[in-house]
Amino acid sequence: MAMPPPAIPPIGLGGGRGRSMRRAAGDAGVQRTNDDAQATKMSCASLGYFSDGVLPLLARCPPSRKPPLINRGTWARHAAMRQVTTDFVAACLQHAQQQQQQQQQAANAEGGNSSPAEASAGAQQESSSIDSSSSSSVSQSVCQVVSLGAGSDSSWFSLQQQGWGLLPAVHYIELDYQEMVAKKARSLLASEQLLALLPDGTTATTELAGPRYSLVGADLRHLEQLEAALHRAGFDARLPTLYLAECVLIYLEPGEAARLLAAAAARAAGGGGCAAVAIYEQTRPDDAFGATMIANLEARGCPLRSVGSVPRPASQEARLAAAGWAAAAAADMAAVYHGRSSGSGSGSSSGAAGGCGGWLRPFWCGERGRIERLELLDELEEWRLMQEHYCLALGVTGQGCSWLAEGLQLDQLRALGS
Ligand SMILES: C[S@@+](CC[C@H](N)C(=O)[O-])C[C@H]1O[C@@H](n2cnc3c(N)ncnc32)[C@H](O)[C@@H]1O
Repeated sequence: MAMPPPAIPPIGLGGGRGRSMRRAAGDAGVQRTNDDAQATKMSCASLGYFSDGVLPLLARCPPSRKPPLINRGTWARHAAMRQVTTDFVAACLQHAQQQQQQQQQAANAEGGNSSPAEASAGAQQESSSIDSSSSSSVSQSVCQVVSLGAGSDSSWFSLQQQGWGLLPAVHYIELDYQEMVAKKARSLLASEQLLALLPDGTTATTELAGPRYSLVGADLRHLEQLEAALHRAGFDARLPTLYLAECVLIYLEPGEAARLLAAAAARAAGGGGCAAVAIYEQTRPDDAFGATMIANLEARGCPLRSVGSVPRPASQEARLAAAGWAAAAAADMAAVYHGRSSGSGSGSSSGAAGGCGGWLRPFWCGERGRIERLELLDELEEWRLMQEHYCLALGVTGQGCSWLAEGLQLDQLRALGS
């Protein structure tokens, strides 16, 4: 039987000046987690796990080589979040194009302008163009990605540098503490290479706002700040929106994380649009490995404040449902990477949902084969144990948004988690 999760001592509780000083100290600790995240990503990029030429221009830490166990876990995190992002954009484009075709067909039927055969040929041409990663037909935003606690993350710049053809379909909005945003804005403005990647029409001060990339500051614990920041970025509640929460909600108090998720679901309902959320964070705090993981982070001044409220992938699903997300799915990263295990520590898979037994699509499965040859990993049991302590949770909400749940493979992820 599972042990109850350990109580996580609240930090920063109390009153008056002492409270705000402890809060500020906690903020510095959580902001430093960004340096750790970027250091592990830089280690991966320098060893060829994935390519990211802009990360060294944005990250605030010197390059260092991490152990193979960490590199492989960081690659799995990168693959999962990148797959969600690219699948989301592709699904949005396809949906927008289908809607356009339906409207066109309805107009044609009314005006009698073209034959059904002509209309259908046009539709096929349109849908095949979105499969191309170098599609040149994309010219305006059909969806938004909101990266919560983005830190120095380089995803948008990296995709832009690599010339990912669907990127112009997205308005990508990054959010973090005001001071983190100001530092990132300074790095961006100081680099000719990064400046050249920014699209025309982007304005820059201590924040950036533009039609395709925005960087705005807010404390995610204060929803009114968050709403104001989204407004400054030009957020459009009518557009399908993906919220990325990569190692961020876990640093909020349970009630703060729940309110943030509920506000995102309500925003979609208010605007009549579809929304998705992807959460990657630690899980299973209540076994020996989990307790050590928590103690280590707490000792470094960045406690995992909400991990006790979502101690299992299933509790991530329950949290999303309680926050008003219509569909939710979650699985630990061992299942995402390998599929459902027939025995703990075996490294084997039972051939669950997607390619290579897990949830990753064929492209990432191919990459998985490649990166596993980059560095020898002997500690397979430790690898599996570590991945069982991270999870991926997805949620989708909005009227008529089943196309989005399909595009993100929610059912497949749920099957791996159950
Ligand atoms: C572990 S880092 C992750 C950065 C990025 N998402 C990634 O995975 O590379 C956590 C980030 O969340 C941000 N963060 C944590 N709590 C926040 C809050 N209350 N408001 C705004 N940002 C916050 C931190 O400043 C930090 O940049």
